[in-house]
Amino acid sequence: MERFGPDDIPDLPCPESLAAAAVDVLTTADAMEKTGKSRAYARAWVAGRAAGAPMPVGQAAPPLRPARPARPELLDPREVPRRRPGSEAGRIALLHAIAHIELNAVDLHWDIIARFTDVPMPLGFYDDWVKAADEEAKHFRLVSAGLASMGSHYGALAAHAGMWRAAEDTAEDLLGRLTVVPMVLEARGLDVTPGMIEIFRKSKQPEIVAALEVIYAEEVGHVAYGSKWFNFLCGRHDRDPKESFHALVRRYFFGALKPPFNEEKRAEAGLPPDFYWPLVEGGAPQRG
Ligand SMILES: [Fe+2]
Ligand SMILES: [Fe+2]
Repeated sequence: MERFGPDDIPDLPCPESLAAAAVDVLTTADAMEKTGKSRAYARAWVAGRAAGAPMPVGQAAPPLRPARPARPELLDPREVPRRRPGSEAGRIALLHAIAHIELNAVDLHWDIIARFTDVPMPLGFYDDWVKAADEEAKHFRLVSAGLASMGSHYGALAAHAGMWRAAEDTAEDLLGRLTVVPMVLEARGLDVTPGMIEIFRKSKQPEIVAALEVIYAEEVGHVAYGSKWFNFLCGRHDRDPKESFHALVRRYFFGALKPPFNEEKRAEAGLPPDFYWPLVEGGAPQRG
């Protein structure tokens, strides 16, 4: 059952620092509590920035893995049952998988905030990831409402266990983290979301279509933040962005990138074709 709407944000005491707020979100297991904290702390950060008195970024040690609810059961991806999206059960399974990705994304964005505070970054870096973490919490709740409308809930099915792998592999490499999380995984979301929207359009579920359209629009921003700060750090260290991107994907991402790519939205997010086409299996040539 849906307990909170997307915009029901709890009133919480202002944390002592942004890093402490991030660790509080990461160590909260319950999904509604986690997403409530994500939204509340984002609001506190934005208010501080608007008042010209930003919350200090501070330092706090994030857990190696975030706390998660007892359900869903996390299974090896090969063991997660596949269902056809043409059926109602298949659409519930698809939404459940999206909810799992969104909850994971809440943690990923707070993790990048807390984990790399030893790298001096402009406050705009924190503005971007706080906004992304707030949006992911909203996405989780929008998708949860969709699941509720279909008589299900997050935790009703098994989910993918491998989601945190990218975060662990890049726990000591901010450039690697920016490469794999926003510029590979979230960019992949831009490729596949239009097909998902079509599935719910065909099943005449306009509220779920609307939720996925919000997600689709806002995810472009997350990929763009990745690309912005990736380029910033390459510039700081006088590294070639395209070559660095290729080297970091090969180092931290297992498997080739899969076309078809959403070239239009990737371009909007600052991800040019010569970044991703050379990483396709067999090094497919760029299209004209
Ligand atoms: Fe999202
Ligand atoms: Fe995202």
